[in-house]
Amino acid sequence: ENTLFKDIVSHAKEYGFVFQSSEIYDGLQAVYDYGPFGSELKKNIKELWWNTMTRFNDDIVGLDSAIFMHPDTWKASGHIDSFNDPMIDNKDSKKRYRADVLLEEKAALYEKAGDLEKSAALLKKMGQLLEAEDLNAVRELIVAEEIVCPVSGTANWTEVRQFNLMFSTQIGSLAEDSNKVYLRPETAQGIFVNFLNVQKSARMKIPFGIAQIGKAFRNEIVARQFIFRMREFEQMEMQFFVRPGEELEWYAKWRDMRMQWHKALGIPENKLRFHDHDKLAHYANAAVDVEFEFPFGFKEVEGIHSRTDFDLRSHQEVSKKKIQYFDPEVNKNYIPYVVETSVGCDRLFLMLLCNAYTEETSGEEENQKTRIYLKFHPALAPVKAAILPLTKKDGLPEKGQEIYKKLKRNFNVIYEEAASIGKRYTRQDLIGTPYCIAIDHQTLEDNTVTIRHRDSTSQERINADALEEFLHKECSF
Ligand code: GAP
Repeated sequence: ENTLFKDIVSHAKEYGFVFQSSEIYDGLQAVYDYGPFGSELKKNIKELWWNTMTRFNDDIVGLDSAIFMHPDTWKASGHIDSFNDPMIDNKDSKKRYRADVLLEEKAALYEKAGDLEKSAALLKKMGQLLEAEDLNAVRELIVAEEIVCPVSGTANWTEVRQFNLMFSTQIGSLAEDSNKVYLRPETAQGIFVNFLNVQKSARMKIPFGIAQIGKAFRNEIVARQFIFRMREFEQMEMQFFVRPGEELEWYAKWRDMRMQWHKALGIPENKLRFHDHDKLAHYANAAVDVEFEFPFGFKEVEGIHSRTDFDLRSHQEVSKKKIQYFDPEVNKNYIPYVVETSVGCDRLFLMLLCNAYTEETSGEEENQKTRIYLKFHPALAPVKAAILPLTKKDGLPEKGQEIYKKLKRNFNVIYEEAASIGKRYTRQDLIGTPYCIAIDHQTLEDNTVTIRHRDSTSQERINADALEEFLHKECSF
């Protein structure tokens, strides 16, 4: 078991970042709630992404489309036919597993035992069978590999079945099939079906992009690793519409720009990498993932895909409405090509939390002390500063309140006067507050305060009137 990851998960709960949904009813699997500090962090992540896309790029505009969409949307996008996971049940334990995950775990065991060839061969074989949709052969492979259910310990498997990941419900009061609607499994389709609305109303010229942040839902069967794989999550997607033939150039640009963005968040280079897709989805002619090294290994955080004209063409076909763009520069009508960047807000949150979580041990052997702090970039930190009067008397609280009231107009700051100053510093370290502002007797004489820096714990004195400027400068990118 991964103790570091366990520590991070319990820290997230204890300090108000992430709670299991409906915890008092023993929770709902793979659904989570964000607490007071988690919701601030998440809001900061979304704001940063939104500003990066729509403010720093003149050629990108925003959209906020609905979660429910006409059911034909998902026919056109391919989700009804092919957004499936291959599932297998163990007849003894009645537990359900993803067939591909069982085989991947077996391959990982071979790899761990040093048999890289066997591991690669198994993965290759599995890929071929799944691509050919030969589900019987997938089952035979599981049996041949002597894979047993971890709960029952038996290899008594059912057949393999495709299981669609979309959630459905009904519109209106009649439980008829014609009223069936889906909860969107990606935000992208809201952008595609609004392509002409946005292009015309905002008078956009190709190349241009549409950005959207919103909830997406997937009935994930293997729901593990905390908020890494959720059933309800938030995506931040941008579709960039380009002239046919220019898509690979734009794909290369966005690939690099997105990696730069992750580095700018303060993620060290050696913890990020690209993972090129060997096998491309039916709609893509190039695809890459940005991966981060989580405590459980390198895993996808963001996908950058060159989606060709697949989606717009498909919507044109199914809706029978023309979705074309007249390009005055080349004097031609065409269906634009699309380069997509798609990042999960919750995955980014988990990446930032894992990267920020720091345990620092200091002192001699018998007298060792461990300090835990979250080293978020100040621009992302949930709380920017804590205003802490050294004592509860001599007018220090009044002075502290005066500073607090001024700062809180522009920053999420905290005022705290209970407990010793050391304990109050520790509390701020645990939620990742970058600056503690201490008010002492000297403040009353010369209006200076001490700023204690979270990461180095070093202190400096500055004039209280300069605090606003200080926070503006430090809490931005
Ligand atoms: N429109 C393309 C698309 O949806 P995807 O690779 O399926 O592509 C994009 O998803 C991103 O959404 C992923 O890189 C991940 O960050 C996030 N994501 C996908 N499924 C998720 C889940 N079950 N829980 C949390 N985040 C998820």
